[in-house]
Amino acid sequence: MCGIVGYVGPKDCSDVLVSALTKLEYRGYDSAGIAVFGKNGIETVKTKGKLKNLVDKMAVEGKPEGHVGIGHTRWATHGEPSDVNSHPHSGARVTIVHNGIIENYIELKEFLTSKGRTFLSDTDTEVVAQLLDYKYNGNPLETIDSVMAELKGSFALGIMFKDFPDRIFAVRRESPLIVGVADGETFIASDVPAILKYTKNYYLLDHDEIATLTADGVSFVDEHLDPIEKELKVADWDMEAAEKGGYPHFMIKEIKEQPEAIRTTVAPRVRAGLPCLEECGITLEKLREFKSISVVACGTAMHAGLVGKYIIESIARVPVTVDIASEFRYRNPIVGEGDLVIIISQSGETADSLAAMRLAKQKGATTLAIVNAKGSSIAREADMLIYTLAGPEISVASTKAYITQLSVMYLFAFELALAKETVSEAECKRLVSALLKMPEAVKYVIETTEEKCKYVATKLITTDSLLYIGRGLDYALSMEGSLKLKEVSYIHSESYAAGELKHGTISLIEDGMPVISVATQSDLIAKTISNIVEVKSRGAMNILVCSEACARTLEDGIADYVIKVPQTDELLMPISAVVPLQILAYYTAVNKGNDPDKPRNLAKSVTVE
Ligand code: F6R
Repeated sequence: MCGIVGYVGPKDCSDVLVSALTKLEYRGYDSAGIAVFGKNGIETVKTKGKLKNLVDKMAVEGKPEGHVGIGHTRWATHGEPSDVNSHPHSGARVTIVHNGIIENYIELKEFLTSKGRTFLSDTDTEVVAQLLDYKYNGNPLETIDSVMAELKGSFALGIMFKDFPDRIFAVRRESPLIVGVADGETFIASDVPAILKYTKNYYLLDHDEIATLTADGVSFVDEHLDPIEKELKVADWDMEAAEKGGYPHFMIKEIKEQPEAIRTTVAPRVRAGLPCLEECGITLEKLREFKSISVVACGTAMHAGLVGKYIIESIARVPVTVDIASEFRYRNPIVGEGDLVIIISQSGETADSLAAMRLAKQKGATTLAIVNAKGSSIAREADMLIYTLAGPEISVASTKAYITQLSVMYLFAFELALAKETVSEAECKRLVSALLKMPEAVKYVIETTEEKCKYVATKLITTDSLLYIGRGLDYALSMEGSLKLKEVSYIHSESYAAGELKHGTISLIEDGMPVISVATQSDLIAKTISNIVEVKSRGAMNILVCSEACARTLEDGIADYVIKVPQTDELLMPISAVVPLQILAYYTAVNKGNDPDKPRNLAKSVTVE
């Protein structure tokens, strides 16, 4: 939610800020703005809409000229998207950009109003700017520290004080922030891709630490204002990974990067043909202790957990519950010592998932995080950690992160099954070997289904509403297919367990309504096909995503469109069968003229509740 950047150095600051913001637009795109120390002091330009609107505005009105500044791209929380609510926000001597939510802003606003302060915007951020100005005593660090003590909620702030034109300050609590360094220049950003063009060297700012950035370097203090040393990190992502590389959208680029993402994630975790997660703190002895598992996550990551539940229960015979993090954290969940809670998160910063993990720890459970973003809060706080090595995922709609989350769930399930002795070593080796072949299988699925999906997508353009159905693993998968389609195409879509249709939902079927069925599990294919026949006879347009085995059993005329997924080991079919669902969603969005990388109202990293 919202992206912030900052720059101090010899380059044209406005250009650097805009370039860095383009890499963060996935975090929000309701409005954008920058503030730069120019010849007239702090010069701010901001506007409603995407970053392009800001660039257009500066092309007409001129851009601030200078070498020190901060920038923002917004996903609105408090206050509608508008010019005046756009960041940066200012007090008389302070200008800031903010990512997060200040929970006690009304209280603080009342206090400042009672002191005669007036406000231009409806945002919580302006309250922080005004509070900084109110408390300003000529010493920025003391002022920031004393304001921080009054703030409740989450924030990453980039701050400029009028009296200090050669520097910017940064501070964070909960919301992510990194500090980049290069020769003679320094940066702040909500995420690494924003600065990759300029440097790979960065520091992770910790909660309540304050950074001071000048062209000469960066210094850090803790909440007591004591100087601290921090470890310099080097990003192992390159620029190319954060660029579109000739593709029209990140979403399709990332779909096509999936074979490599699986390979990179799985291969290093296999030794002598068996899963090996020791480097992640996971051993067979440890796994033997767990009697039950809860998977907690949001959205697509939660859907990866659902697939995980089916696999773990089927091969390791350990009971698994899957929870939406925002539900788990408020229902006094029954977890404690001896339980394993798995948190899945691409960003590692999702507020509900982070809170759920903290709650699980507090209750005595052991936590395992499956995270993509290195050094993120969830990664840092979990007891055990498996990184999905998908590289930067820029498109808001998650694809390659999901497929690597699935891959990790498989590896984990195989190791757990070994620990619980529910599979033999030979069977485990067979499964691992099948998993190692999935990159090739996914590559082949992309090659063989893209054109068909593109064509079928043209049939969905005029649809207002559709259904996804499946059973077992295919049901878990159809939930992800449905989410992917609705988030990028804006077509209303629901997924149902196929056997549940007759209990109410089938009344929705009318002539021409698309029903997208997933059928890859041979023991359930006949049952799913009978559901497909039922909706067909009520006028549905049937689109079937199925294994070759399923296609062979299909009578002519039942499905209007069949997208065949090459056969792999059946347990692993979700990894390949999700691909046409993603491609279908992508082309439906494109056909409708939507930007699949930046679906309306969404942001990539949901760092607020
Ligand atoms: C959908 C999507 C979201 C995320 C969810 C959790 O395509 O990406 O549903 O999966 O917001 O985000 P992370 O994985 O960052 O915790």
